[in-house]
Amino acid sequence: MTIPTAIVERLKQRAKNACRRAYAPYSRFAVGAAVLADDGVIYAGANVENASYGLAMCAERNAIFQAIAGGALQIQAVVVYTPTPMPSTPCGACRQVINEFGSDALIVCCTDDPHAERHYRLGELLPNAFGPGKLDANRGVR
Ligand code: THU
Repeated sequence: MTIPTAIVERLKQRAKNACRRAYAPYSRFAVGAAVLADDGVIYAGANVENASYGLAMCAERNAIFQAIAGGALQIQAVVVYTPTPMPSTPCGACRQVINEFGSDALIVCCTDDPHAERHYRLGELLPNAFGPGKLDANRGVR
């Protein structure tokens, strides 16, 4: 599904705003994310780290979990904002979580430089994904 440019712009603004609330004292790598839910509602999140380093949670998953906990069933788009020269794509764990709720989601990776912006579909970033359909197809077959 094509997402209107005006909606993508709003998602980018929400991701940038969320980035200001990142808690990243260990990596100093702040990330903001915004998710467009199936019903048009936008949810945002930032990365949240911990003194126990392995407990860090990415901005994308925080935004997605906000969406699902807020009543969203599917995700149409995920925008990732970083205040860096190059855009940052979602990590592997976040790609898997996006797949659960939006296997064809639009992924926009942006910075303050409009020329650096990159657009993907999740299938490009996570080909041959394992998802709910694989479980259904194999249930009872062992
Ligand atoms: N991080 C994200 O929030 N999203 C990504 O897609 C990649 C990494 C965070 C996790 C950690 O807080 C910091 O960036 C450095 O890895």
